[in-house]
Formats: sequence, C-alpha cells, structure tokens
Amino acid sequence: RASSSSEKETKKRAKEEEEVPPSVLGPSHATIHSSSVEKETIEVVTDDPREQLKRYQEKYRYSIRHPGAFWAELAYENYSWENRDEFFKHNEHNERENFDARKGDVNVEFFKGAKTNIAYNCLDRNIEKGLGDAPAIIFESDEGFEREKRCETLTYLELKEKSDKLANHLIYVCNVKPGDVVVCYLPMIPEVVVTMMACARIGAVHNVVFAGYSAEALAKRIIDSEAKVLVSAAMSYRGGKAIELFKIVAEAEKICEIQGHRIEERVCHFNLPGSEPHTDWPKEKAEILAAYKQRHGGNEMSPAWTDAPHGIMRPYYGLCLLESFDLALDEQESRPPPVTIWRDAEDPAFILYTSGSTGAPKGVVHVIGGYMVHVGETMKEAFNVKAGDVTFCTADVGWITGHSYLVYGPLLNGCTSILYEGKPDYPNASRLWEICDKYRAKVLYTAPTVIRSLKKQGDEWVTKTKRDSLEILGTVGEPIGESAWTWFHDVVGEGKLPIVDTWWQTETGGHVILSLPNVGEQKPGRCGLPFYGCIPAILDPQTGKELDGPNVEGLLALKPPALPGMFRDIYKNHERYVKSYFQEIDGYYVSGDGARRDEDGQYYITGRVDDVINCSGHRIGTAEVENALARNVFVTEAAVVGIPSEIKGQELFAFCSLREDIQFLKEKAELKSSKYTPEQLIVRDLMDTCAKEIGSFAKPTGGILLLQPGTGIPKTRSGKLVRRVLRKIAKGDLTGDFGDLSAVANPESIQCIIQAKKKAN
Ligand code: PRX
Repeated sequence: RASSSSEKETKKRAKEEEEVPPSVLGPSHATIHSSSVEKETIEVVTDDPREQLKRYQEKYRYSIRHPGAFWAELAYENYSWENRDEFFKHNEHNERENFDARKGDVNVEFFKGAKTNIAYNCLDRNIEKGLGDAPAIIFESDEGFEREKRCETLTYLELKEKSDKLANHLIYVCNVKPGDVVVCYLPMIPEVVVTMMACARIGAVHNVVFAGYSAEALAKRIIDSEAKVLVSAAMSYRGGKAIELFKIVAEAEKICEIQGHRIEERVCHFNLPGSEPHTDWPKEKAEILAAYKQRHGGNEMSPAWTDAPHGIMRPYYGLCLLESFDLALDEQESRPPPVTIWRDAEDPAFILYTSGSTGAPKGVVHVIGGYMVHVGETMKEAFNVKAGDVTFCTADVGWITGHSYLVYGPLLNGCTSILYEGKPDYPNASRLWEICDKYRAKVLYTAPTVIRSLKKQGDEWVTKTKRDSLEILGTVGEPIGESAWTWFHDVVGEGKLPIVDTWWQTETGGHVILSLPNVGEQKPGRCGLPFYGCIPAILDPQTGKELDGPNVEGLLALKPPALPGMFRDIYKNHERYVKSYFQEIDGYYVSGDGARRDEDGQYYITGRVDDVINCSGHRIGTAEVENALARNVFVTEAAVVGIPSEIKGQELFAFCSLREDIQFLKEKAELKSSKYTPEQLIVRDLMDTCAKEIGSFAKPTGGILLLQPGTGIPKTRSGKLVRRVLRKIAKGDLTGDFGDLSAVANPESIQCIIQAKKKAN
C-alpha cells in the first residue's frame, strides 16, 4: 500500500528504480496466450500459501508502480486487437511506461487507440484455438415445466452462429449502428448471451435490464438510455412459476410512448413451454393455433399469447419468436456472418443501471478494452481457470456479476459457463450442488444470501451430493460474515477448498479486493487483498483523511491508478459521475462501503455506509423506494432504512406518513367492505406499489409503519432524513436514547413514531 507521507514516497521511488520488474505473466497468467490449444502452457504452481503470498506481493508491487506496463503486457499477450502490434509494440521492454493508463483521477483511459471487439475475443479467438466444439454455455432450466428437458449446450461455434444471425437481424432489420443502445430485458436463458454477443459484435451498446424489474422500472431504463431497440423474451420461469414477460414489456412500451419515447424495433425470444424443437411450425395464425392445440393435449393457446401486442407468438426451437421476428430471422439465414466491428478500446461496451444514495438509478458506462482485460484477468486469477474448465456463477445476468463472471469472464478464458435459470433451492436445497455434480463444475461463485438460506435448510442437502469436481468456492455481493463463511468452507468445501471472497461493484466492472486462492492465510469473514494495480485506502469518515497502517476502520476508497475495468461515466450525466464518486474526498474514488484492514493488510468489508441497502444481494437505493411510496395515494411522505436480516443480510423497513384525508380515501377504496383492516389494506397497497414501480425485490419486507397524518418524519434543518434515529426505531430500539438531536428540526416527531411503533408491535 502506498503511504501518503512524502518521505515514504521518496523511499518508495528509490526502491522502485532499483527494482527489476518481474514477469507480469506469472504462472497462472500463462494459460491462454498461445495460438493453439495444443501449445498451451500450464505451469504448475506451488500450493504453499506463504510462497503464493510472496509471489502475489512481488507482482502487486510491480503492478502499482508500473500500471501501464502491467496491463499493457496482459492486454498484448492474452487478447486480440486489430492493431495489436502497432499499438502495443512501443510498450514492450523499457518503453512500456509511455503507455497511457490514466488521465487524471477521474478521466481514466486504458489502451486508447487500440482497436478490439469483445465478442471476437470471447468467440472467434477461442474457435481459432480449436475450441469451436467445446461447450461455451450449458443451460440448465427451471423445473416443473414442460420445458424441464431443455438442458442444452451451446458450443463456441453454435454461440457464434446464433449470435451472428441475431447480429444480422439487428443490422438489417432493426437498423442498429455501432454505438446505438440495445435494451435487453431477458431472463436467464441462453438467448441473453446470444444477444450480448450479437450487440458486441456489431459495436452496439447493450443495456441489460434485470428481468425482475417492473414495467415502470424497465421504461425508465429504456428512456434514460435512449434505446430504440428492445430485445426481450416471452416468458421467464423461476421456482416453478411462469412470468409473462411480454406483458410487462408491452406495458413498458406504453409508458415509454406516453413519455414521448418510441421503441422502433423489438425482438422477442419466444420461450414458451414445450421442450421439442418446433422447426415445422406453420406461419398462418389459424394454423398456429391448431398446431399449438394439438401439441398441448387439446389446450388452447393462452389468449395472453394470441393477443400479444406485436402479433401472435410462434414457438421456434423450444424458444419462441414473435411471428414477425421469426420471419425476419429466416431471411438472415442466407446472409454471411456480419463483419466484426473493431472499436476503440475506450468506446462503450455496455450500460448497466444501478442504484445510488440519491435520485434515479445511474447508467454505469463500461468501455470495451479495459473491461475486457480486467474481467478476463480477474476471472483467471480469482478462480484459477483455464480453457475447458466448467464454472458456475449463480448471479443473474441482469447484474454486474452475471455480466462479468457468468458471461464475459468465462468466455474470454475459453471456459464452459453454466447458466441456471431457476432458484437455488427449487425444487429442493440440493439443487446447486446437484448442478455442480452433473456438469463437473470446478468453480462455484455465489452470494452470501444464497449460502445463508441453504445453510438454514440443513447440512444433509449438501452432504448427500458429491461436489468432488469443485476446486474453488467464490462469494460476492455482501459481507459474508464468519458463520456463513465457516459453513461454506467446512460443509460445502469439506474444509479443503479455498473460499475466494471478492469485493467489487457495478462501477468497478470486475474484482477489486479478493482472497486469491491459496494466497495468504484463510480467515473466516475476511475479504482479502487488493487485486493487481489497485490501491485501496481507508479514510476517516469525519475528516476524510487516509488512515495508514494496520487495524484501522473507516470508509473504503480507491486511489489512482485505477483498474482498467472501472466505469468511465454515468450515461448522459458526467457531472453526477464526478460528484457522486470523486468529489466527496479529493483524490479518491469513494466506494460507499465501510471496511477494516487487519494486521496482515487483509480487508474486511463492513457494508454500505450510505443510503444504499443491500437486500439479498440486490442493491437498492432508499431514495428510489421512498419516491415510489410517496407516489402512493395514501402517503404524503416516506422514509426507508435497512434493518439486519438473518438470511437476506438487510431488509427494507418503511415509515409512511398518511394523508390528512385518509378517511375519504379509505371509503373511496371501498376498504370498509373488506375483511382486512384499512391499515392492513394500505400496507398491502404500499407493497404492491413498490413491486409495480421497481420490482418485487424492493418490497419493504422488514415492515411498513403507518404514521398518522401530521406526525412527520425526523429531518435536519436542511431537510435530510435523520436515518440514524429511524434505523434504531426500525430495529426495535425504543429506549429514546438517540444521542445528539440538536440538528433535528422536528424532534417531537421521534416520540410520535416511537409510540406508533410500540402500538404496532
Ligand atoms: O456493499 C458492497 C457489496 O455490494 C455493493 C455493490 O453492489 P453491486 O454494484 O450491485 O455489485 C454487486 C456485485 C459486485 C458493494 O458496494 N459487496 C459486493 N461484494 C462484496 C460486498 N460486500 C461485502 N463483501 C463482498 N465481497
């Protein structure tokens, strides 16, 4: 870690000059840089954690002193670039430092001027190496449907063919040009990978929206990203339930239209129930209806499907396509594969929306080159993978973990990625371990929420499975804590496997702090050490000063130089980008998390310190939920805080001030005639509002406390909610001991809220 004092800086620089740069390509880097699989060199690395730690420290030192050289060498060795030799040749040997890794603290740039294509790197590069027939994606469907047999494999060649066809469709029918944004509202089906690859191939920017978001939330993301093309699926299946996504899409389109935004082209992957390929399906509506009926034991096609907004849906290969899209895809059959569009490394690869402390969700912009190298390399280092390894990341592709370590990371490394559609505990709590056994997964990467919920169901669900293919257990998304860590290590890994905890964010694109396998001592609950090229800092929350040395706790920040996969902007809002992350404490990227550093330099993440709540690994902005609740007809004002939850990590708890004319509203809503009390109905209505405006995962399941009109919610004189008091009350601390309240403008509201909470208890 770099020190802030100038004396230390001078010493450091002197040492730096003496230092001979070690080979950046250490043993575990030497996997995929040869031109054929046969020639691939895999060196055996020692398992001694102390040796590994030494190797890590040496490489780490080099990486932070020579970030340009460090990353350029990896980029040159392990990835394809159109102008690879011309661009990188100056970075070889002593000239590497000419290479521009960073432009100031905020405006990061890596490999600007180098041209690449991430789909080419994920697919063609592996096919050229002889991996064409190796499985790229193994799809495991949810159970309990006719579709349950749809467990299919897409080889690298098949994935390329399918995505090329869709890319042609996007070019010729949807008129997508490089740089255009394509919104993908897709569940966990192979088509999501096909779509991401198709976009990347033609230089389009994908904006994947988690398929658990509501129509309102989807519309917001479509409008904000100015997308004219939308790719979706007809259905989503999870835990034995079917969700009619196309209805949500239709509603979102309506909302967009009302707000003056028109989606010009849409593509719908038609994944209706039915496991057999439907290549012979007719195209006329009457014939389709008859054929459906015949195939489905005399049942009529659901009116919801026949009345779909863009024409009748027609099953196709067990997937389904809207009639018009299907015809259009047939046309692409005869076209040659699309030309790969080589883009500048600094051109945008994708946008992904995430929640912040305040305001609307932010469109985090990632660029192609830096993201590719960062994610490819962290995948390799964190999980020790080589081409042909099977990896199982349980995150949804709608979140950054799904992007980086379910799709791009595995494909960049020639791995086979398991794409599991369903829930970890459906039909029972052995499901994940059975999938690991079935496909011989080497790596399982999941979240503490999943670990905690499976732990609760008992060890026998785990111990009855083999798990003998697993070599690494990874975790991400929340602080894992000692008890979940120990169970994961002792029961799932039988005490033999390294636990790789990985701290990072949507904004960082890839891992930042992690416990590299076998590097240093495994300690329950530790997150680990910084990845190469990254300098974390712990800041004093009051003064913003950096806290040096071991055994310190405070705000977790990152110092320049940045990692190449760091985001470059907030879509259409550079000011917010600068203000939210870089201005709070000059010279640092402030993460919004708290952390502790121990005597060995290992980091422990303590959780969010801002107004973002991490509920079951879903990142939820309190402001978003408050705004949704305040739009409900019964409510004038709302405050949302997080309370601890055994399984979910945190749950949302809401305080809602009711309107003065509530009596009138109760009558209007005909609540009197119901068997529920008006309060119960209001609470239900508020839950529905959150589901409608954001998604079911944003419901305040920790509780909703209704406050009588006029109660008010405690605020400072500048109008900021006093969350520290609200958090205590939500947790049930009703002692009234809230410390200094001199800044609160309406302290009397606190007593009223305590009374309301006592009554509700
Ligand atoms: O609070 C941290 C938590 O997840 C936040 C980032 O959320 P998101 O952008 O949705 O990305 C999640 C997946 C990378 C962080 O600010 N978080 C992430 N990983 C960890 C974590 N908290 C503790 N330990 C982790 N390993």
